[in-house]
Amino acid sequence: MNILHIDCSPRSNSYSRKLSALVVHQLKSYSSSNFITRRDLGRDPIPHVDELYTTAISAPQELQDGVLTHAVAQSEKLIQELESSDAVVIGTPVNNFTVPSVLKAWIDNVLRMGRTIGVNEQGEKVGLIQDKPVYFAIASGGFFYGEKAKQPDFMTPYLSAALGCIGIKSVEFIPVQGTAFLSKDEVMEQADKLVLSMHQSKAQA
Ligand SMILES: Cc1cc2nc3c(=O)[nH]c(=O)nc-3n(C[C@H](O)[C@H](O)[C@H](O)COP(=O)(O)O)c2cc1C
Repeated sequence: MNILHIDCSPRSNSYSRKLSALVVHQLKSYSSSNFITRRDLGRDPIPHVDELYTTAISAPQELQDGVLTHAVAQSEKLIQELESSDAVVIGTPVNNFTVPSVLKAWIDNVLRMGRTIGVNEQGEKVGLIQDKPVYFAIASGGFFYGEKAKQPDFMTPYLSAALGCIGIKSVEFIPVQGTAFLSKDEVMEQADKLVLSMHQSKAQA
């Protein structure tokens, strides 16, 4: 299995890093042959979209003619990493109710009209990436998801919509919550339980 493993936290003691590593470990146990592509957005952020990129993606003919190929080189690399994976694991914190800016920068590069988003005969947008499981290993200081939520969740609906528009519908959210209140052991106990239930649902599928 080809796994694309992305992390977004800048912290070395990050819970979302620990959780994403557990999810990758679990996925690896499903196959005897695995290949991991690593993309560490937290430690090695990609640049935000710039003038050259935004101009290029607004000039489809020039892009098609290869005149502006260099402007989308980073986007192309990130899309190819996504295309060549069978499963994706993204470890990310919740920052101010939603995704951290390093993950938003990745999304801005991967969602590209004419490349990962097409238009059908009815003029509707269609995703051009083959569906695959994407696991979001999320850490949050408070509670934003499920029954205990005490704050708005602009993260999971946004991520589902963003990946959905390129064709990826098989998105699973695995959130460890309350990292600001719980002890390290309590958070990791929560993480172990979540990964176990992910394993059980996979085994039952
Ligand atoms: C800039 C910033 C914004 C944050 N915003 C939220 C938030 O909106 N909701 C929340 O529950 N926690 C918030 N947190 C707390 C983090 O989600 C929490 O510390 C989490 O464990 C960080 O992930 P990590 O352990 O993988 O680094 C924020 C932290 C930072 C640094």
